Amino acid sequence: MTAENRQILSRPSPEGTRVGELWSILPEESGVDEAGVLHIGGVSVEDLAETYGTPLHIYDEAGLRRQAQRFMSGLAERWPNSEVLWASKSFPAAGMYRVAAEEGISVDIAGGGELRLALASGVPADRLHFHGNAKTDAELQMALDAGIDVIIVDNEDELDRLERLLTKPQKLLLRVIPGVEAKTHASQATGGDDSKFGLPMDQALRAIERMRAHPLMEFEGVHLHIGSQILDASQFGEAVTKISTAGEFPVYDVGGGLGVKYTYEDKAPTIDEYLDAVVGAAREHLPADAKIMIEPGRAIVARAGVTLYRVTTVKHTGRVFVAVDGGLADQMDAALTGQRFEAVLPNRMLDPWTEIVQLVGRQCESGDLLVDQAPLPAAQVGDLALVATTGAYGYTLANNYNGALKPAIVFVRDGEARLVARRETYEEFMALHAPVLEG
Ligand SMILES: Cc1ncc(COP(=O)(O)O)c(C=O)c1O
Repeated sequence: MTAENRQILSRPSPEGTRVGELWSILPEESGVDEAGVLHIGGVSVEDLAETYGTPLHIYDEAGLRRQAQRFMSGLAERWPNSEVLWASKSFPAAGMYRVAAEEGISVDIAGGGELRLALASGVPADRLHFHGNAKTDAELQMALDAGIDVIIVDNEDELDRLERLLTKPQKLLLRVIPGVEAKTHASQATGGDDSKFGLPMDQALRAIERMRAHPLMEFEGVHLHIGSQILDASQFGEAVTKISTAGEFPVYDVGGGLGVKYTYEDKAPTIDEYLDAVVGAAREHLPADAKIMIEPGRAIVARAGVTLYRVTTVKHTGRVFVAVDGGLADQMDAALTGQRFEAVLPNRMLDPWTEIVQLVGRQCESGDLLVDQAPLPAAQVGDLALVATTGAYGYTLANNYNGALKPAIVFVRDGEARLVARRETYEEFMALHAPVLEG
């Protein structure tokens, strides 16, 4: 941040706002200038809207890097024989893969597209782990050709595939079902007995024997992931305890899932509390010389990212509907998982919140509700609206509903903005239909 920016940025307390909480959901590098405009990474969001248009994904790059380092140093201090993998499904953008490569954090990918993007962005193949419950022959071949570090095998059909495809030694982990029902939205719980991911413990033993018997399969240990947006740190300790019953191995990858604070009311465990839960249980139940891996996604990228919109309509029908130029096409988490977000009018940060509004998108679903009952200043057409804590799974789930175009992504840092993904164009959108349109 430049000295000038530091000077103009301040943290206001407008009447009617719960300001302390406001700053805990906005990116770390946030502040407000004298005109009441929000700055992120030292850059005015009004300027960003002007330059790059809306909807726009904005990321505090320093916050992204800091959060990755916090996980890496926190785990290394507690358990030196360890590795942190960033779960890249949470924000699969070349700009973030490049950050991961530069920060030296390993990366988990779960599909051919993520693999290609990670490699093209400079993540070394020997820092990549490949997940997925339904990997295809073609994807496995891509991963083997690239020489990726570890494949996390999900099932015995995948072992059949690998038997056919392997021509050189390959490190493997096996995903097991730990039987821990994560306290989160049903679509985000992945470690209960009914999970489609991994094998139950009894079947896991047979798969492990198969891997151990194969000359090219280097079986190293087990993997679990109990789910996402988990706010009770003790559940991670429970998972580690459960996985220890699978046997003694050189490697235990205990997945991701640490939840984040989305709303003024949410209380999320800190990284330290999370790591204490994982490593505390590991000290009690896992071999002292084992390697531990964790795979945080959301907790690295969520808070650093926000989505910026322009208000297009304000309607009073008994309720106040503030509609913006995006919606569930770029922010599907609210509709998919019921996640509640918070919003601000970033060009009017000093105005008191005088209304409770329905902040809605423009897609043709009543479920396209970005924030239910958002406390805001009285919005006007042309205002900016910003939904906070959208750095994880927002860009991931972006789609073309109603012909919407994928938004651009901009990274801001030290008063500078840089475009890391441009907005999709109508030409690109139409090009997929060339077989008819040009036929
Ligand atoms: C195997 C695996 N690891 C890690 C993650 C990351 O989870 P989160 O973003 O909640 O940390 C996921 C997310 O679904 C996953 O499937």
